[in-house]
Amino acid sequence: MDWTFPSIITSGVLLILATRAILHPLRNIPGPLLAKFTGVWLILLDNSGQRTQTLHQLHQKYGSVVRIGPNELSFSTRKAMREIYGSSPTYAKGPQYGAFGRKSLFTMRIKEEHRERQKRIAHIFGPASVAQVEPIVSEHITKLMRALEMRQSEALDMMLWFRMLALDVTSDIFFGKNFGCLDSGKAPTILHDLDQVFPAYWVEWQFPLLHRLLLHVPYKALHQFLTAGHRFYGYGGEAFNDYVNRYGRTGNRRDLLQKMIAVSDDTAAPKPLADHDIIIEITNLIFAGTDTTGNTFSYMFWELAKNPEWQRRLRDELSTIQFDNVPDYQDVMKLPILDALIHETLRFWPASPASLPRVTPKGGRTIDGVKVPENTIVSCQSYSTQRDPEFFPQPDEFRPERWLDENSDLTAMRDMILVWGRGQRVCMGKPIATMELKMATAAIMKRYSVELGSDTTNSDMEMRDHFVLTAKGGQCKLLFRKISYS
Ligand code: HEM
Repeated sequence: MDWTFPSIITSGVLLILATRAILHPLRNIPGPLLAKFTGVWLILLDNSGQRTQTLHQLHQKYGSVVRIGPNELSFSTRKAMREIYGSSPTYAKGPQYGAFGRKSLFTMRIKEEHRERQKRIAHIFGPASVAQVEPIVSEHITKLMRALEMRQSEALDMMLWFRMLALDVTSDIFFGKNFGCLDSGKAPTILHDLDQVFPAYWVEWQFPLLHRLLLHVPYKALHQFLTAGHRFYGYGGEAFNDYVNRYGRTGNRRDLLQKMIAVSDDTAAPKPLADHDIIIEITNLIFAGTDTTGNTFSYMFWELAKNPEWQRRLRDELSTIQFDNVPDYQDVMKLPILDALIHETLRFWPASPASLPRVTPKGGRTIDGVKVPENTIVSCQSYSTQRDPEFFPQPDEFRPERWLDENSDLTAMRDMILVWGRGQRVCMGKPIATMELKMATAAIMKRYSVELGSDTTNSDMEMRDHFVLTAKGGQCKLLFRKISYS
């Protein structure tokens, strides 16, 4: 044979492909043909915004384990979830977290590094902090109520309004100031940047060279897109410096930034992070808490608008407690119907529907009966675990009653819920997000009925995801009408 340079390259490529397909230890795991050979299939899927639904369909076709890349598996069972995300953190986060911006509590992959960071900031998410920020949450809900009052019988894009509520709450809590969205009724630039942060970082992470080259293309919109992530951290830096200049580093402010920068008198207490790390953390928290919570609200109210019977049941439940404008959290935190509506929204429209990738530890593991070598990327996605018909009969229907039925196996159902993550890396903001969801839903539904706005269709609300859930149409028009209690 004549070994010319092209023939050597061709043979090398064929050898790699054959190894991946025929000799690889994962060769017997079913999945799309292309995924066995190359990661490009998954990259294209990620960028399409339809990764989660496609993987779900693949699970329906191939079963509980699917090979989604040469070295990557997706699982969907309870056993697999327990193994991968169990409370002992043996599986590190996958390399994909490098695409989620700068190094922070959320993106740190190495468990020792994460544990160290957690020790330094976990206190800001404790029960005392939740109680401390309740007045901030209440204040912004009041502003939203005022905005609704001024715009009655007008179809409002509630996706925007709920995102603005979540942004004003999180920025007040972590930046020590808000963007005044609910007062002005206008989306600030940060919200537009937020739309682009994930896709922009994704491009930078997947194609760093291309990203660098594109930055030199003299096209403003492209440049704006590519630099969205960097601009986003700029907001955090500005807010932090402004905060320290205005209030110093000690004080009794009600926000949680104060808690993050304060030096404790107790010498055994963990020291605050360096300023640049605080800036990264608070910026990521704005990111973590805005679209997740805002879009959960939108989908819940969208479902309520389609289900007047659930509006009636919720309103009956709310009539059992007294409040003028916004309820106290402790009065609504245990209401069963409100709770069931939120559980079902997060099950059916999970704000974080996508795979949470992890890496198998040294020596490999057996996951749900499948032998998986070390250093394989494995994951489950909440969209699939939460639509498993064994635990959720009629999984493709929005049925809050499943959470109220005394015959339901609630322990097993809760075990399949992955929307908040699991184990050591579970969402730290869950108590704050839950408080926001419950207080605002109770406040609005006590005073208003909600109907579909004419120009939002089921197709507009079809799910898209770039790790976080969004709606295909990018808006959710709803109409609120005041209830008369006379
Ligand atoms: C409906 C609202 C929310 C949902 C569904 C949600 C979901 C999640 C999920 C799935 C993870 C884990 C990701 C993984 O394992 O890769 C996570 C992590 C995290 N979330 Fe949330 N989140 C929400 C709201 C919030 C809010 C409001 C905050 C801040 C106040 C927040 C702060 C965090 C933090 C700090 C982490 C990282 C935890 C760690 O790795 O130690 N989240 N969230």
